[in-house]
Amino acid sequence: MIYLGGEAEVRIGEVVVKKRKPKRYRLKEIDEMLRTRRTRAEAKLISMARRIGVPTPIILDVEEDTIVMERIYGTPVKECMNEEISREIGRLVAKLHSANIIHGDITPMNMILSGGKIYFVDFGLAFIDSRIEAKGVDVHVYFEALKAGFENWEKLRDAFIEGYLEIGSEEVIERANEIEERGRYVERS
Ligand SMILES: Nc1ncnc2c1ncn2[C@@H]1O[C@H](COP(=O)(O)OP(=O)(O)O)[C@@H](O)[C@H]1O
Ligand SMILES: [Mg+2]
Repeated sequence: MIYLGGEAEVRIGEVVVKKRKPKRYRLKEIDEMLRTRRTRAEAKLISMARRIGVPTPIILDVEEDTIVMERIYGTPVKECMNEEISREIGRLVAKLHSANIIHGDITPMNMILSGGKIYFVDFGLAFIDSRIEAKGVDVHVYFEALKAGFENWEKLRDAFIEGYLEIGSEEVIERANEIEERGRYVERS
């Protein structure tokens, strides 16, 4: 099975091969350099998350623009979302944030439920940042994804917050709410 996303081509077989696509508008040498850098960063962050106890695929190989990783067999979170899962996602995101890992794209498409654990499979937009703002934006992206994808998004959001606050800071949740308010203001004006 081949999945074609905006940034990458993902081949799903016995292992998963994720190859970052060239950006034609960039100078070839610069594009190659940036793709290599991004690919390395993604692989590093996947491994780092795993070390701090957030389930992610094992990295098997990293080449210039390609990551080979363990395939996670399970159900996409998109298809099995419930309050218990959202609460656990909250705990895991707080754990990432405690290590200053910003995921950058926390959506149900990027998580897989397998063996009772939630795996984060896509760190393509992840980076390191210790600021409340970066963490607030990260959480805000998740809330937007819930709103767009689920009728009971309010319950799912509240469950996430409960999980997040077990180890995460209230400031981050407050910031996520503020970011939402800012968005509303912009929409109205
Ligand atoms: N290690 C993996 N095991 C199983 N499925 C995966 C794995 N990595 C990615 N996938 C599947 O492939 C899709 C695309 O991969 P992803 O890393 O999210 O690419 P993109 O950066 O283009 O969104 C994911 O939504 C997920 O369904
Ligand atoms: Mg993805």
